[in-house]
Amino acid sequence: MRFELAVLPGDGVGPEVVAEAVKVLQAVGRRSGHEFVLHYGDIGGAAIDKHGVSLTKDTLKMCKRCHAVLLGAVGGPKWDDPLAKVRPEDGLLEIRKGLGLFANLRPVKVLPMLIDSTSLKPEVIRGVDMVMVRELTGGLYFGKPKRQWRTSKGRRAVDSMTYSEAEIERIIRAGYELARTRRRKLTSVDKANVLESSRLWRQIAIELSPDYSDVELEHQLVDACAMRLIQSPSQFDVIVTENTFGDILTDEASMLAGSLGMLPSASIAGIPQAGKRIFGLYEPIHGSAPRRAGQNMANPIATILSGAMMLRYSLGLAAEADKVETAINSVLEDGYRTYDIMSEGMKKMGTREMGELIASKIA
Ligand code: IPM
Ligand code: MN
Repeated sequence: MRFELAVLPGDGVGPEVVAEAVKVLQAVGRRSGHEFVLHYGDIGGAAIDKHGVSLTKDTLKMCKRCHAVLLGAVGGPKWDDPLAKVRPEDGLLEIRKGLGLFANLRPVKVLPMLIDSTSLKPEVIRGVDMVMVRELTGGLYFGKPKRQWRTSKGRRAVDSMTYSEAEIERIIRAGYELARTRRRKLTSVDKANVLESSRLWRQIAIELSPDYSDVELEHQLVDACAMRLIQSPSQFDVIVTENTFGDILTDEASMLAGSLGMLPSASIAGIPQAGKRIFGLYEPIHGSAPRRAGQNMANPIATILSGAMMLRYSLGLAAEADKVETAINSVLEDGYRTYDIMSEGMKKMGTREMGELIASKIA
């Protein structure tokens, strides 16, 4: 088949890691006979420099015409002025909203050969294999009113955590469906002891449970979940939560895997179900790492794994996705490491060497 892919390299190490993921996808194409047609566009600081905005309407349109989007990273010190009118991060929020990417999937898996590169005790993180499902287009990030103003008693600001039933239902269903393909346990995370939006969230999670009687549902309050994530992380299978809670918990969970450089993400516009192709955007969890940019240092594995998620969810090529993951495991088993996961006795490689090695192992 022929697939149209939008590629938005972005800032910092973004272009370097995306280039390697593209090499791996091309290797997959050669092996499988599928054709990936690439359409490049700008986002973030790179777009601000060229077009004055962090995402142009044309780029958004181009993405809509594709089967999926591969993104590097956005941001950097050059565009960091808190008073700036345009910010690289705005491009990310606009593309999420503009493409309807309401479900953000962030898998966290501890690979046995990297167990020593984390800051937690090996016995705590052994066996960790979870997916965080974060609601991505609602809650505090987009809720109205959202503004800052002056009053006679000083300045004041408001953000709104608002959710509709439909918004909650689709993300909870995404969590249930994903749990079905895994260990059949869904942890719904909220703050139902305080927040009204969380009480609605919890009610809907419970109301939907008869549709998924094969999945065990549990509820955790977000503060308790933050604690359990580092106390006993292997208890989790699929976690589903709202936007801001998910933003914080996914950063916390990412530390279980040792390096941010290993973690992919998918932001999809539908409920994942076997055999269904869903439009989505795929990017590494890590940021633009400006200090590492241009040095052939960054770990491309997170972006390559994001490419694997793209094959699985948006292109319906699950077997090819497995091949990419197998290639990565074999390179790691052979002792090859980028600087962020380097340990004694291992062989250190740059971004390009790592990408090319993985591409060469695609079966
Ligand atoms: C993330 C990032 C973004 C977010 C920022 C860059 C807007 O932290 O993808 O988690 O908060 O969603
Ligand atoms: Mn974040």
